[in-house]
Amino acid sequence: MGEPQSILDPLTPAAMFLVVTIDEGGEAVARDLLADLPGLRRSVGFRVPGSGLTCITSIGSAAWDRLFAGPKPAQLHEFPGFAGEKHQAPATPGDLLFHLKAETQDACFELAMKLAERLAGAGTIVDQTVGFRYFEQRDLLGFVDGTENPEGQLAVTAALVGDEDPEFAGGSYVIVQKYLHDLDSWKALSTTEQEKVIGRTKLDDYELDEAEQPANSHVAVNDQAVSGNIVRANMPFGSVQDGEFGTYYIAYADDPAVTETMLTRMFLGSADAAYDRILDFSTAVTGTSFFTPPVAFFDALPDAPAPAAAVAGAPESDGGGAESGSLGIGALRNR
Ligand code: HEM
Repeated sequence: MGEPQSILDPLTPAAMFLVVTIDEGGEAVARDLLADLPGLRRSVGFRVPGSGLTCITSIGSAAWDRLFAGPKPAQLHEFPGFAGEKHQAPATPGDLLFHLKAETQDACFELAMKLAERLAGAGTIVDQTVGFRYFEQRDLLGFVDGTENPEGQLAVTAALVGDEDPEFAGGSYVIVQKYLHDLDSWKALSTTEQEKVIGRTKLDDYELDEAEQPANSHVAVNDQAVSGNIVRANMPFGSVQDGEFGTYYIAYADDPAVTETMLTRMFLGSADAAYDRILDFSTAVTGTSFFTPPVAFFDALPDAPAPAAAVAGAPESDGGGAESGSLGIGALRNR
């Protein structure tokens, strides 16, 4: 298995998430940037001793076809979107995801500036979210977030592609979604009611006893014994000026089907619950899927695809193959 990017490193106090679309004709610049990324990260990180700066870089499905010839990660596809009767998870554009983590925000910001500079004229930053640690790894709903993440070898098998796709072993599939909380409605609930929404106690973060655990609580719906394990690295974000309070949901898995099963249960429901009760207080506003290649991938990128015009019978497009280009908003999956 190839050495993975820093997916399994612990959460840091600071993070930044950049979702980028590659402009038409920007493929060569994007490829140059991907090849230079490890060095850029070292340049910034080494100047801030103790910053622990990491940059996990991931590539979307349509972008993969535009950037690389040759094999593609077996399960890589666009985020399908999920349309439940009451709540929706939209699919939104994104070709590259930069997940920056550090002890302090200055290191993330410096590297983000460099990435933006290198992408100028070739890519568009469609979302920048600055995440921060909030007290004891709590989300802005006030609950500790991340407790039941797998640890040790279980985390390795949950997050990383193995022998099932040897070419991409050590890689991972990542799904991101931005959720905005309705804090007024949330704060109108008593602590006991909030605990029934999440499925854990608020102050000390114990899982509710089976007898008290509602079937539509967030942890009951996302029972990893049912759907499989994922490695989450959620961060709170917000703007007091705009009254925006959110959770940046990000989870790595060896197969995107694991997170998609969770999202199906959350939004479309299951035999046990119509939908995840957390959705009455949190709205998904973005949703995008990517593949996170192992470290060595960036040292020797695959060749670029042949220009579309040179391929006999190929349509005059960006070489996006069967998919309709990376800027379109995907359809929603429903019942
Ligand atoms: C508004 C967005 C979200 C918030 C605020 C949130 C918050 C939380 C909290 C507080 C917990 C309990 C502590 C823990 O084990 O981490 C939790 C657990 C969990 N969440 Fe979320 N979450 C969100 C979205 C999601 C989404 C979209 C998924 C999957 C698609 C997900 C999957 C999980 C899983 C697998 C667990 C652990 C369940 C268990 O095994 O006990 N979460 N989340």
